[in-house]
Formats: sequence, C-alpha cells, structure tokens
Amino acid sequence: MIDWCGGKGHLGRLLARQWKVAVTTVDSDPALCADGRDLAARAGVEQDFVVADATLPDTCLDRGQHAVALHACGHLHRALVARAAPSGLGALDVVPCCYHLGIEGNYRTLSRPLLTAVSGDDARMAVTEAVTAAPRQLRQRDREMAWKLGFDTWRRLHDDSDGYRRFRPVPAAWSRGSFGEFMQLMARREKVAVPAASDMDELERRGWQRQREVMRLSIVRHAFRRPLEVWLALDLAVRLEDDGYAVQLRRFCERRLTPRNLLISARLR
Ligand SMILES: C[S@@+](CC[C@H](N)C(=O)[O-])C[C@H]1O[C@@H](n2cnc3c(N)ncnc32)[C@H](O)[C@@H]1O
Repeated sequence: MIDWCGGKGHLGRLLARQWKVAVTTVDSDPALCADGRDLAARAGVEQDFVVADATLPDTCLDRGQHAVALHACGHLHRALVARAAPSGLGALDVVPCCYHLGIEGNYRTLSRPLLTAVSGDDARMAVTEAVTAAPRQLRQRDREMAWKLGFDTWRRLHDDSDGYRRFRPVPAAWSRGSFGEFMQLMARREKVAVPAASDMDELERRGWQRQREVMRLSIVRHAFRRPLEVWLALDLAVRLEDDGYAVQLRRFCERRLTPRNLLISARLR
C-alpha cells in the first residue's frame, strides 16, 4: 500500500496496524519522514518512508498497488490520479485538498474539455471557509481583515486611487497591538504617510464597516463553494472512470471534523 504525500504517515500507520499490510509512505519532507519512521518503529508496524517528489513521473507507484492520499494538495492528488492507470494501480482512495495549488493560469481538467474557464482563484474558493476555527481565531481573522481594510481606506485617500491593491502578507503579530500601531507599521512598510492620531478612530470605523460589507458579499461566494468543490472532485472521478476504474465519490465525515471531507474511491474493473 502507498500512502501518497503522507507526511508523518499517520494514516499509513493506522492502516498498517488495522489491515496488517506493508505501507510505503511517500513525502518530500525528510524531517516528516524521519519522525514517521520513529512513530512506525514505536508502533511496531511494517511501514517504510520514501523521501520523493510526488509530482515527478518516476515516483514509486507499482502495478496492482492500493494508494491512499489524505488531504493531498491540488497538484499532488492530480499527479496521483493521472498516473493511476498508466502505473496499473489496483485501487485508490483519495481525499483531495487545496485544489488551487499547482494551477498555473486556468484549471486544466483531467477528464472532459471545459466549456468555461475556472481560474486558480476560483478553485481556491472551493476551500475558503472557516469551519474548524475556534471563536478566538475567527475574531482575530475579522480584526485582521477590518484593520487591513482600514489601512486600504487610508492608502486610497493618500494615492487618490479607488482600486483595491493586494497586500504582501502582514505579520500576524502586527494585529495584536492597537490599531494605531498597526497603521504605523503598515504605512512605513507600504511607504505612505502615517495618518494623524486624530484620524485613527475614523479609519478603524471605516475598516470595520467595509469588513462587514465584505462578509455579506462573501455569502454569495459561499453559495458556490461546495458545488465547485464537488465539480473539481467529479473531474478526478470521471478521469478515473474513463481510465477503467469503478469509482465512488462520497462524504466520509462531518464537515465540522474537516470540511475537506470528499472521498474518491476507485477500484480497477
Ligand atoms: C496536507 S499534508 C497531508 C499529510 C498527510 N497525508 C496527512 O493527512 O496528515 C500534505 C503533505 O504533502 C507533502 N508534500 C508537499 N509537496 C510534496 C511533493 N511535491 N511531493 C511529495 N510530498 C509533498 C507535504 O510535506 C505534506 O506532508
């Protein structure tokens, strides 16, 4: 059995123990593989680790094998699905994640040609929701968003522009102090004048106002989130069907445990 992009091999270790099978976990991170080896030795299971790049065409996949991939990101699960039939895999169980990763330009379907264009940003929408975040993390996220929008309001006044410009990542620690400190750090980094202390309250208020608007608009986006995710998963499923597998697509757990809960199971016919 192959545990594709398995990290420390938690899934592989579980299957090796429960199903009494030999498992090879493949991952590109040597430190994760080293930890995984220790965990496997302690658990006394037959599991080895191969440090390899799963996107390369010669990464180990053998005829008749069963491959599992839990939360393998976009290019990593697509590499497995595309190589399944040519490698002669007997079975696959794939739980996709981060569909947008590895997309350059528009999404290139693995099954049928697409009549419309799905960009990497569109595919990212399939995985943007906060289901497992704690209330404290949600409050922090809201505040980061509001403060960035407060800064954006100020930058637009300063630049006399009215388009939103993307930010380089903002260190999380910057939003743990006061709004005034945040604005000073951002203004220096983005090379705009620091607002006067007397303007800060109004800029913060406008940031929060825009944050609420953005959240209301995102309700519309979220209506399309799950259908888009299911469509992306169906593209993988149809490719496997075309390649000679009997395929099932189903939800394997509640979304509060993990929102990436679609499982594609394929068995060579
Ligand atoms: C989201 S984690 C999933 C890990 C594991 N399957 C699990 O559920 O705990 C994705 C894994 O892919 C690995 N990875 C990233 N790029 C890779 C590549 N090009 N080839 C192989 N593994 C890769 C990362 O090191 C990471 O362990």
